[in-house]
Amino acid sequence: MRKKIIAGNWKMNNDISATVNLISEIKKELSGKNVNADAIVCPPFINLETAKALLKDSPVKLGAQNVYFEESGAFTGEISPSMLKSVGCEFVILGHSERRTILGESDQIINKKIKASIKNLLKPIFCVGETLEEREKGVTFKIIERQIRNGLEGISESELENLIVAYEPVWAIGTGKNATPQQAQEVHQFIRGLIAKIYSQNFADQLVIQYGGSVKADNAKELLSQPDIDGALVGGACLKAESFVKIIEAA
Ligand code: 13P
Repeated sequence: MRKKIIAGNWKMNNDISATVNLISEIKKELSGKNVNADAIVCPPFINLETAKALLKDSPVKLGAQNVYFEESGAFTGEISPSMLKSVGCEFVILGHSERRTILGESDQIINKKIKASIKNLLKPIFCVGETLEEREKGVTFKIIERQIRNGLEGISESELENLIVAYEPVWAIGTGKNATPQQAQEVHQFIRGLIAKIYSQNFADQLVIQYGGSVKADNAKELLSQPDIDGALVGGACLKAESFVKIIEAA
């Protein structure tokens, strides 16, 4: 049975004092609650070390929102996987649609980042998803297949034991218009089937596939009750402790 994993992608939000406040409130909201899901917070790079210190006695885990694929050197402004490890990061979000579209990341760059993360024992949360135009053209599965095959190219099943896939339809991100549980389930099932084809049924059966895109406290339960939805990658609703913890409880 797959454990549900809820990750909060803070995006470019929260300075250091807001980070201290939000993590303290998440810990307070969670205390005394019996939750079954794993929870991850992904603050901006410069707040990771502070976040890690605050999470010391908490089950909440730490992730970053991006990483570069080189180990070190003349890459002004970039952060390496070992740097993330050194501040206690366990997870890293890769291939987010905002990085694909705004920052111009290709499938090939994302593939290199996944490889570099695995090599450094960081657990990738690998995002895929179609735009509204692609959905309306009826090419959703084709786009997802291309993103998955290219993103995971040259990586073996045994190297991917800590992989999480996040299905985030671009049209549902930050729009308040979530995919219906049926729309999400359909794509999650497709992703699991594709992973079974590329790797093995056994590996596909244990792969955690999160849904992301306007997940809120009031729609989380229905989305998370779908058979192939194993968690959520939450944007806006993770910036308030109360709604983030409600989503964790829903799982
Ligand atoms: P929203 O939850 O704000 O739609 O963002 C989803 C997302 O992009 C998480 O990575």
